[in-house]
Amino acid sequence: MPDRITRRLAADSAGFAEAGALLRAGGLVAFPTETVYGLGADASNGHAVAGIYEAKGRPRFNPLIIHVTRIEEAERLAVFSPLAEKIAHQFWPGPLTLVLPKRENAAISDLALAGLSSIALRVPSSATARAIIEASGRPIAAPSANRSGHVSPTLAAHVLDDLEGRIDAVVMGEAAEVGVESTILSLLDDRAILLRPGGVTRTDLAAILGYEPEAMDEPHDDKAPLAPGLLKSHYAPEAQLRLDAETIEAGEVALLFGTFRPKGLEAAKLSINLSPRGDLKEAAAALFSALRLLDQSGASVIAVAPIPDFGLGEALRDRLARAAAPRS
Ligand code: TXA
Ligand code: MG
Repeated sequence: MPDRITRRLAADSAGFAEAGALLRAGGLVAFPTETVYGLGADASNGHAVAGIYEAKGRPRFNPLIIHVTRIEEAERLAVFSPLAEKIAHQFWPGPLTLVLPKRENAAISDLALAGLSSIALRVPSSATARAIIEASGRPIAAPSANRSGHVSPTLAAHVLDDLEGRIDAVVMGEAAEVGVESTILSLLDDRAILLRPGGVTRTDLAAILGYEPEAMDEPHDDKAPLAPGLLKSHYAPEAQLRLDAETIEAGEVALLFGTFRPKGLEAAKLSINLSPRGDLKEAAAALFSALRLLDQSGASVIAVAPIPDFGLGEALRDRLARAAAPRS
């Protein structure tokens, strides 16, 4: 590693067919979804899945999300309660992952599920992602297409920065529209539990669940389902992050939101505003690109101005907190 030619495939019908054939043959293909670019492999093929962990340099205990294009296919892989049905019909296709009991006969490699008896399923809405999964004819295991611990990719160019020479192909598709990963909701218990904030907001979910938005927080007891991949330090740029910064210190670069102007901003060598008009959707779509650019400035600290904690702001703040956490 790196030891192979990474092909650039066009996001057209010939490219989708080629991507599908590569996936069927056990290859690794990165492609856009509406959340972030994913690194796909045939989820039923243990060798192919092992390739994902190798290419990413990812700890093996981390289970993967399985992507399909229709609810009926998801129902062949997992047991859906009436509540799960309702949530799936409301939010799929879209940026929501459901953790459900795996069906015993589901043909998914144990490696993809890290040996768990539950399965994380998602039906993406990106037309590009859907065409590629369809063309493969397989359930597709796909983590974000970045080296383990790096910021998730929202552009094909980000994927090539991280994985060129380590994977078989990248579909050169659209910029990821949502920009942060899917929301992960566990429905293993009677009560839904929000394992990762993401593209579908807590408030959207609460409206369908009939809960108070706070009621789906993970209970702090031993019975809480594990989200093994949710490392505290993740999405780590080289630079340190300083959150909720109201002043910019000498030598720092700045990540801004809305009209708030931290003191000392004039002296910053580089600043990027995620959304000058204060739109959280626009900010989410811009987050990972902005972190990459600020990191490339070589500054040792990225000062992050306050970002609201409601709606998509929860997912933004979650990713920034992980990027700011001390590295292990
Ligand atoms: O938006 C997304 O979800 C992207 C795109 C490519 O679909 N994928 C993504 O995958 O973010 P990844 O591998 O970076 O994150 C998957 C998360 C991990 O935190 C993992 O622990 C959790 O899903 N997960 C997978 N299976 C699980 C399970 N059975 N129970 C609990 N958590 C699970
Ligand atoms: Mg990831």
